[in-house]
Amino acid sequence: MSDPSITRQQHWQQVYTVKDETAVSWFQESPQVSLALIAASGLTRDAGIIDVGGGASRLVDALLAAGHSDLTVLDIAEAALAKTRQRLGARAAAVAWIAADITAWQPQRHYALWHDRAVFHFLTAAEDRTAYKRALQAALLPGGQAIIASFAPDGPERCSGLPVMRYAPESLALELGAGFRLEETRSEPHKTPAGGQQAFQYSRFRRL
Ligand SMILES: C[S@@+](CC[C@H](N)C(=O)[O-])C[C@H]1O[C@@H](n2cnc3c(N)ncnc32)[C@H](O)[C@@H]1O
Repeated sequence: MSDPSITRQQHWQQVYTVKDETAVSWFQESPQVSLALIAASGLTRDAGIIDVGGGASRLVDALLAAGHSDLTVLDIAEAALAKTRQRLGARAAAVAWIAADITAWQPQRHYALWHDRAVFHFLTAAEDRTAYKRALQAALLPGGQAIIASFAPDGPERCSGLPVMRYAPESLALELGAGFRLEETRSEPHKTPAGGQQAFQYSRFRRL
């Protein structure tokens, strides 16, 4: 955090309050790689999907348009969720919204698919990664799938002013442990709104 006196929640709330959702470095008009991996997961349209740290991402818009009917978006910043709800208008009523820190969240139900683009990579403290994995284990159905996207080893060292961990699919698989099998990986040279490029990796895992 650029200002060590503010909390994680305050940092992200401020980001989404100050910046336009299309100006943040991670903005995507259409999250094509995520959508391709979700399609590859072979889920039915009524399967439960949670976008963890979904922010103001347009993934939920695209999934609604594709006919998915059991969607949840979780984010630490209520301001991000509010932006997405406003964009969706009446369609927002069909989505469950959770304002929570993933490292403290206790899921109340199970999901068939967990999607995370650029959230786990902010967890630089081992105890936060352990807490994230506890939430993942508690939320995901046995046989369920997790798509986790992060900066790749040749990606940036910071995002939104915060230090990040960079992962290759193999190091992410090691991090998740033997309870998850790596099924598919993709790389994406993400183009930022400012014209830069960031190397992302996306990994799709199955919970054994
Ligand atoms: C780089 S943005 C990515 C947003 C979105 N996934 C996307 O691809 O557009 C990281 C997101 O994670 C959220 N976030 C950061 N730390 C979090 C945490 N501990 N728990 C839940 N959400 C968190 C932020 O508010 C932000 O929306």
